[in-house]
Amino acid sequence: MIIAIDGEASSGKSTQAKKVADYFGYSYLDSGAFYRAITLFFKKKGISTANRINKNDLNKISLNSKYNDGKNSIYLNDEDVSNDIRSIGISEIVSDFAKEKTVREHVYKHLREFSKNQSTVIDGRDIGTVVFPNADFKFFLYAKPEIRAKRRFSEINKDDINYDSVLDNLNYRDTTDSTRKIAPLKKAYDAHSIDVSDLSIDQVFEKVLSIIEK
Ligand code: CDP
Repeated sequence: MIIAIDGEASSGKSTQAKKVADYFGYSYLDSGAFYRAITLFFKKKGISTANRINKNDLNKISLNSKYNDGKNSIYLNDEDVSNDIRSIGISEIVSDFAKEKTVREHVYKHLREFSKNQSTVIDGRDIGTVVFPNADFKFFLYAKPEIRAKRRFSEINKDDINYDSVLDNLNYRDTTDSTRKIAPLKKAYDAHSIDVSDLSIDQVFEKVLSIIEK
């Protein structure tokens, strides 16, 4: 069983995906976290634009994640980078790295390998369109940018960034992600769309669950 939860930046995909995984006892994968981890790897090497990466470097990157009790830990070459990948410095450049074919293929390999023998809920941008076009269930979450920015802003350290910068970053990533040539952010034709603008976490979950259980 593969359940794909795609959608815009900060639309609550991870929250819903974890809830679905918990409810059914499935595994969980956050594909965005892997793009962030690859971005962190190159940023640490002083490479902040994706056109300077090469395949040999990519092959040195091992990705892993462990999901337990609502907490998803991300490992980059066995180092826990769960906090580092959420910094604004990574959010600012991750969409540039995610445009690259070689980067995407590296993440795809990991996602497909991990979910080969286990039922998995995966959130991202292209899970239902490209990575698992035959997923058993597909969802696409979206909301007004201001609402998504407000929600993201409430979760982060206010010393690092202000609301307007969060909004700018979400808009920038949505535009870059949806206009790229490879695997752009878009709703799969057979995905269930949910406008989460005026819904609580539990209300979205009820909708998702009612579709799966039907
Ligand atoms: O949590 P949030 O929605 O803000 O972003 P994320 O899921 O952590 O994804 C970070 C970035 O990774 C996105 O803006 C995309 O550029 C890229 N991404 C992607 O290209 N394809 C995916 N399946 C998941 C993320």
